[in-house]
Amino acid sequence: MSEQLEGEIDTVMIEQRLFPPTEQFSQQARIKSLAEYQTLYDEARRDPTKFWETQAREHLHWFTPFSETLQWEAPFVKWFVGGKTNASYNCLDAHIAAGRGDRTAIIWEGEPGDERKLTYRQLHSEVCRFANVLKSLGVQTGDVVSIYMPMTPELAIAMLACARLGAVHSVIFAGFSAEAIADRNHDAGAKIQLTSDGLYRRGKVLSLKETVDQALAKSPSVKKCIVLRRVGNDVSMQPGRDFWWHELMEQASDDCPAVPLDSETPLFILYTSGSTGKPKGIRHTTAGYNLYARRTFEWVFDHREDDIYWCTADCGWITGHSYVVYGPMTAGATVLMYEGAPNFPAEDRFWDLIEKYRVTILYTAPTAIRAFIKWGDHHVDKHDLSSLRLLGSVGEGINPEAWMWYHTKIGGGRCPIVDTWWQTETGGIMMSPLPGAIATKPGSCTKPLPGVSPRIVDDNGHDVKRGRGGMLCIDYPWPGMLRGIWGDDQRYRDQYWTKVPGMYLTGDNARQDSDDYYWIMGRIDDVINVSGHRLSTIEVESALVSHPAVAEAAVVGKPDEIKGQAITAFVTLRVEGEVEELRQALKMHVRKEIGALAQPDDIRFTSALPKTRSGKIMRRLLRDIAAGKEQVGDTTTLEDYTVLARLRDDED
Ligand code: WTA
Repeated sequence: MSEQLEGEIDTVMIEQRLFPPTEQFSQQARIKSLAEYQTLYDEARRDPTKFWETQAREHLHWFTPFSETLQWEAPFVKWFVGGKTNASYNCLDAHIAAGRGDRTAIIWEGEPGDERKLTYRQLHSEVCRFANVLKSLGVQTGDVVSIYMPMTPELAIAMLACARLGAVHSVIFAGFSAEAIADRNHDAGAKIQLTSDGLYRRGKVLSLKETVDQALAKSPSVKKCIVLRRVGNDVSMQPGRDFWWHELMEQASDDCPAVPLDSETPLFILYTSGSTGKPKGIRHTTAGYNLYARRTFEWVFDHREDDIYWCTADCGWITGHSYVVYGPMTAGATVLMYEGAPNFPAEDRFWDLIEKYRVTILYTAPTAIRAFIKWGDHHVDKHDLSSLRLLGSVGEGINPEAWMWYHTKIGGGRCPIVDTWWQTETGGIMMSPLPGAIATKPGSCTKPLPGVSPRIVDDNGHDVKRGRGGMLCIDYPWPGMLRGIWGDDQRYRDQYWTKVPGMYLTGDNARQDSDDYYWIMGRIDDVINVSGHRLSTIEVESALVSHPAVAEAAVVGKPDEIKGQAITAFVTLRVEGEVEELRQALKMHVRKEIGALAQPDDIRFTSALPKTRSGKIMRRLLRDIAAGKEQVGDTTTLEDYTVLARLRDDED
């Protein structure tokens, strides 16, 4: 390790494996070679305004063309000023107008196994009817609609109906507590609540309406509530406030033209975690977001007409917004939606769905992939996965060994993997391999997409040397970027634009290797400082995961008098073994793989790691446990820290 400058991070991981796309894949791809990618990237870099202007004219429908492409008064941006468009029109009407109305838009399967299919024409009709329902209850352009629903077609219908009217949706993942809903409703000033009677989870019925009733008792701005009947459980309906979805739909007409909306009309708010308790509503607007979701979907997933595309994310997260609804639907894709758990009725449910619907593109998260590895290969082996042609990953860094398993076991060695790095704030994918053009390396998100301008800087805002880790920033606006935090411009400035003046601070660390590939090194706050060397969590975790006995690992720093911090590793096992022996073996393994400095002082075995509701490891909580601030009892046997995570209800 070389001498360190302020804010730089050491790297200890060396990953040499390279997987170029097959010739067959490249030949059929939209972007066929590295040279083609580079030409596109350079074109966007030379004149980003011109580049996005052309993209927007060609890939969105305009009721009124825009007159100015970009207004940038840092940190506030406007794209496609003066234009009028509508995201719901782009997702639906545009396909009908182009004669593609009979294409399948949604293939849906419920957890109990019920199935539905909707063409773009049918989806359009449902969306128009529901938009009329919203209108009949007084919803207007600019009103905030709070959505707390299971992963059903109606969730997408509700989002698109809001977009049609220019109402702002705020989707709250249907696992959050009443308190979390009430906080978000209050912050957003939501006027109306959409929910369902309940949902299916691992064969059980959870009552959503009950939770919503508690939330609405503390949400004075919400005057009306529409309830979808999904599971048929008993619910109490408050007269004058609560309405059944199906009853309102019966009377609704399916004639509801999309409202021409200014480009910068808010499209949605999505709450993400903040360091303080107050929810942070990320605000996205219409045209820029819609364009960015569409183009990134087409580039990264190399979408073709015959694809059956499955993104396993719930619409409660940004991935569901951008890559279940707005991206694929603006592109006219056929989207598989699945309501339930991956392990119901058995651990092979995903593989069963892929085989049954002949899914060609699968987009999922590392947390799921690591669970599949733990559950065992025999679940996969039972199924024919030969329809798959492309795999994707999002949400966390993917450990190289998990990547290899995904590549060989799920992809049969033939499917490229797109490891997509992005955030709720970025609206769409920022860095990812283009599967026909860029050779992949396990664990790297490779290169920025056209129009994306990343920088890696130290604490003084200076670019770090090639190979060194630093803070990942973006130095130029892109159409999908957040427009702010709902109702809190100051927090927006403080959070994203102050630490490194003039640049968007992602909050992640990254490094670039000698091939110019990017490697995400985890959150800035998670860096571990051992004897003056700043180490990234993912690299030590990946070394642990490369041991055959390990399923998952999370490492954190623990205060240490001599070294500043010592590494504590929390590990879940694939194979059970004698604890003390394994502990020694894992320490030696890390030492051998990446060096003595990174060897954990303490290894603690757990049956599960604490995760946020979107599946990210909660290192912050583990730090407290390692430092002895959270009591968890006996540490010699298997522990289940998820219990603690559940106590900390709404971290996300
Ligand atoms: C992390 C999810 C490494 C990262 C779309 C980011 C990743 C945060 C990756 C955003 C990836 C997401 N490799 N890390 N491919 N994708 N992350 O807002 O720390 O839920 O800042 O958006 O997840 O999470 P969010």
